[in-house]
Amino acid sequence: MKAINLATLQAMKTAGQKFAVVTAYDASFARLGELAGIEVLLVGDSLGNVVLGYDSTVPVTMDDMAHHTRAVARGNSKSLIIADLPFMAYANELQALDNAAVLMQAGAHMIKLEGGAWLEETVHLLAERGIPVCGHLGLTPQSVHKLGGYRVQGKDEEAAAQLLNDALLLQDAGADLLVLECVPSALGAQISAALAIPVIGIGAGVDTDAQVLVIYDLLGISPRQPRFSKNFLAGTDGVQGALEAFASAVRSGRFPEPEHSFK
Ligand code: KIV
Repeated sequence: MKAINLATLQAMKTAGQKFAVVTAYDASFARLGELAGIEVLLVGDSLGNVVLGYDSTVPVTMDDMAHHTRAVARGNSKSLIIADLPFMAYANELQALDNAAVLMQAGAHMIKLEGGAWLEETVHLLAERGIPVCGHLGLTPQSVHKLGGYRVQGKDEEAAAQLLNDALLLQDAGADLLVLECVPSALGAQISAALAIPVIGIGAGVDTDAQVLVIYDLLGISPRQPRFSKNFLAGTDGVQGALEAFASAVRSGRFPEPEHSFK
């Protein structure tokens, strides 16, 4: 695999080629991701759940994110690396700029943050300062206590229209990618078609431009497998094989299936 950058991903969207994204938290899995040809690695704050044993991503700190981003960057030289800004690390614009700089200097190529319209100025400022931004809409786990649980978002017409507006606004503010989590498949398709930038789905149906899974879910080692995930280790000969199977299923549109999606 050639080194992946934003232009590569944008060209893939234009050509209608889907790409694969997995989370990674350490150098060993990052290396396997590269060997398996995974285009994008996400140092997700889901590390709070799957690595650190918290019951949400809220306790994850900037030190945690910088530590794991450095490890992933040491293990991988080809995939594009996105790192999450954790809870309250971007509550205002200057704080976002300072913390994004820490993650970029730790080895990320792009930062991700959760939320809609209220982030317009923040995204604009980061983009203007040369920091690529990935938005995150739909189910935003850092707001789990406000959302009242891990629920599918955008189910009624008003909520769906709000998500579409937020997506367009983030794109116009300068976001280069968007993660869309747990929304009805039809809305996933609508937002992906409306945006010029690539949309990475997780529980957002098969029509998004890319798919992301938490690597521990993909390997079947999470205690509770979310509906939108699948164990790709079953039937393969190891972790690299599982990652290759995931990437191949994403690229050919065989994953997700209706059983992994929401109406
Ligand atoms: O933190 C994470 O792993 C994420 C993905 C679930 C998209 O944000």
